[in-house]
Amino acid sequence: MAPFVTCLRCRECAREYPVEPLNVCDFCFGPLETAYDYEAIARATSRRRIANGPLTIWRYRDLLPVDAENAIDIHAGFTPLIKANNLGRVLGLDNLYLKNDSVNPSFSFKDRVVSVAATKALEFGFDTLSCASTGNLACAVGAHAARAGMRSVVFMPADLEAGKIIGAAIYGSTLVAVQGGYDEVNRLCSEIADSYRWAFVNINMRPFYAEGSKTLGLEVAEQLGWRFPDHAIVPVASGALLSKIWKGFNEMVSVGLMEGPVPTRMHAAQARGCSPVVDAFNAGEEMVMPVRPNSVAKSLAIGNPADGIYAIRAMTSSGGGAHGVHEEEVAQGMKLLAETEGIFTETAGGVVISALKGLTERGAIGRDELTVAYITGNGLKTQEVVGDVVHPLAIRPNMREFEEALHGLSPSAR
Ligand SMILES: Cc1ncc(COP(=O)(O)O)c(C=O)c1O
Ligand SMILES: [Zn+2]
Repeated sequence: MAPFVTCLRCRECAREYPVEPLNVCDFCFGPLETAYDYEAIARATSRRRIANGPLTIWRYRDLLPVDAENAIDIHAGFTPLIKANNLGRVLGLDNLYLKNDSVNPSFSFKDRVVSVAATKALEFGFDTLSCASTGNLACAVGAHAARAGMRSVVFMPADLEAGKIIGAAIYGSTLVAVQGGYDEVNRLCSEIADSYRWAFVNINMRPFYAEGSKTLGLEVAEQLGWRFPDHAIVPVASGALLSKIWKGFNEMVSVGLMEGPVPTRMHAAQARGCSPVVDAFNAGEEMVMPVRPNSVAKSLAIGNPADGIYAIRAMTSSGGGAHGVHEEEVAQGMKLLAETEGIFTETAGGVVISALKGLTERGAIGRDELTVAYITGNGLKTQEVVGDVVHPLAIRPNMREFEEALHGLSPSAR
């Protein structure tokens, strides 16, 4: 059992539910969230206790809704936070950091959420781990199910990149490639979850799963030397990640790890081919109008985002912003990050870097302000997108051809 969890609570009407695999309020259909006894956590936790913990998300066990002693742990988390001087110089930012979560075990931040969800699924006695995925989640579910000795059945749109399909299937999962977009996959999975007793990490396990994303807030504050950033730039699909980073920052204050109020402005990054959260925020709306995605950033292609409203509330209450990047800026962002900082990110990271550029150009981020851009997935999974922006020199093995090829390059590339 998780010692500090009190119940599940409806985010809309605050009705309380027992800690079970439930995700929707019976009365108002609002989403359920795990609730904690913050006073008890405050008595138990401390910066020192966290610092002495493992170099994984499980150092934050006091704020996670599962029994960490039985964690399904493939070393998610405690990824590098890098001061990005080269990229900062290009963008005109002197205090820029990158949270490089592309180096997690299955190569995205989804290992954080699935590590928590898989642990809870075993606590509840499930034998099958499942999900509706835009790609990365399926990889993380496969990896954690393998470690836990569980069966996994993962669902994703059939048109995803090869790196996502292979990266999920390799773990022995049953991969169901659905002719349709994520929103259709998700609808199908909700139906399946009603008739099969499977742990769908982002459906019936969602209240527990989503808590794993908080660790991307806690970890950044700890790695900054127990400071909050002034700005956080976060890629948005369902909106859970952004709203949970915000929740994590605020919980640090609630349990006495940090002084409040949290100064961080939360900014959403989406690509224009699927930007319902950015568009709603920029129109001053809280309700998100669903869209039909058509974007190269497939990992973020959720047209009807379950946590969109909560992401917008976090952006609004933090004084943050939102930026939609043009489709061609996705690959440009990936290339800029790789060339300046040596980090090969996937499309979601390209969206974040180009949104960071856009927000900076708009004056939303000041040169000296402490800014963290979240790089949440790995470029080796979406190579198709940048295949035509790299140009190897093809030669036969002799000096003449080498020198001809070298001299054919532009002077800056020689
Ligand atoms: C690499 C990457 N970054 C960010 C996100 C967005 O996460 P969320 O759905 O919690 O908004 C996703 C979602 O699949 C993702 O794959
Ligand atoms: Zn309710």
